[in-house]
Amino acid sequence: MKILAIETSCDDTGISIIKTPQNKKSGFDVLANIISSQIEIHKKYGGVFPAMAKREHQNNLVPTLEKALKTVGMLKISKNQISDSKNGTLKEILDRESSLYENLKKFLEKYEKPDIDLIAVTKGPGLEPCLWVGINFAKALSFFWNISIVPVNHIEGHILVNFLDLPLQAGNHKINFPAISLVVSGGHTQLILLKKIGNYEIIGETRDDAAGECFDKAAKILGLGYPGGPIISKLASQDIKPNTQSPKLPRPMMNTKDYDFSFSGLKTAILYHHKKQSIKTQKSKEYITQMCAEIQQTIIDVLIKKTIKAAKDYKAKTVILGGGVSANQELRKQLKEKIKKEILNCDFLVPEPILSTDNALMIAITGYFHRTKKIAWQKIKADANLRI
Ligand code: KG4
Ligand code: ZN
Repeated sequence: MKILAIETSCDDTGISIIKTPQNKKSGFDVLANIISSQIEIHKKYGGVFPAMAKREHQNNLVPTLEKALKTVGMLKISKNQISDSKNGTLKEILDRESSLYENLKKFLEKYEKPDIDLIAVTKGPGLEPCLWVGINFAKALSFFWNISIVPVNHIEGHILVNFLDLPLQAGNHKINFPAISLVVSGGHTQLILLKKIGNYEIIGETRDDAAGECFDKAAKILGLGYPGGPIISKLASQDIKPNTQSPKLPRPMMNTKDYDFSFSGLKTAILYHHKKQSIKTQKSKEYITQMCAEIQQTIIDVLIKKTIKAAKDYKAKTVILGGGVSANQELRKQLKEKIKKEILNCDFLVPEPILSTDNALMIAITGYFHRTKKIAWQKIKADANLRI
């Protein structure tokens, strides 16, 4: 089975094509995983503007699909005449995305229907205008090519991308349950209990800002640019001389009995600390690297403490890390070490950094697990606040 996946929930336009496992011993075959990043555009504004991101998705979707199909050798020229009735429906589906309609029409006229069995598309959570572009694009392809769609939860995608290389066994991946998953991204920080694939319970989450959002806001306060996570982690690694003068930030909710988080107080503490410094200090490399190291470590300390607590309390046999912040090398390293040291017989899964941040491969894999839940293209809707 070949799955084409589309991801547009935030500022990355992703298209992926996978071949699902042939037998119980093999994993997924990644045929294409293309991401068109909008970072350069949003960088100037220090964050993602939904209307601008929507426009960029409209521009990027067709070229990204073209690139993906080309990579797989599925881009075959054929001159198609689109009937008035089909054209009318396409236009209706992409009524709010006129430039995408124009691009897609030209594409559909030029190329053959590819050998794809299922389309998977992100339904939510995410930025509503962005989700709709991807969904309408999926609907148009589903209608025109007559291929079924399966809607996918983005957060579940961040978890199940970890199953990419695990061989299947009797229809299920060889993973030991129960598992605890920490999903840390720009919009979410959740601890999720997995009893099996498809059976999830959110046992804790942030009460305000997400961990990635805290990295992004902290970088803005320090005048470092966007997105904050990768910038802060790079600078943090240059902090070669931590000393008693190094800034010390509070670890909000680290020792509470629940599995919840709170990062907005941390952002305020960073702001106050920063404001107290002289302009000269604020600009000094020593201060910036120390601050970045402390911000990163504070977030890591809180995330690890609660994840370990959850894993112990729920007797987890596997801990799964996912979401953009899981690209953070220190978080990956420290969580792995802590699990090894503190929990007996517990596996640790984390995606390659490139698959930590948003991509369509995670949507394709999740689509595979829900392949029986196809719905008619007319019925699919975006849900910006979709919960796992
Ligand atoms: O999952 P993702 O790509 O998009 C959302 O679904 O939100 O996550 C993006 C977030 C951003 O806040 C970004 O700053 C953060 O992930 N991030 C990182 C790193 N790379 C990306 N945070 C810490 N360290 C990193 N290396
Ligand atoms: Zn994400």
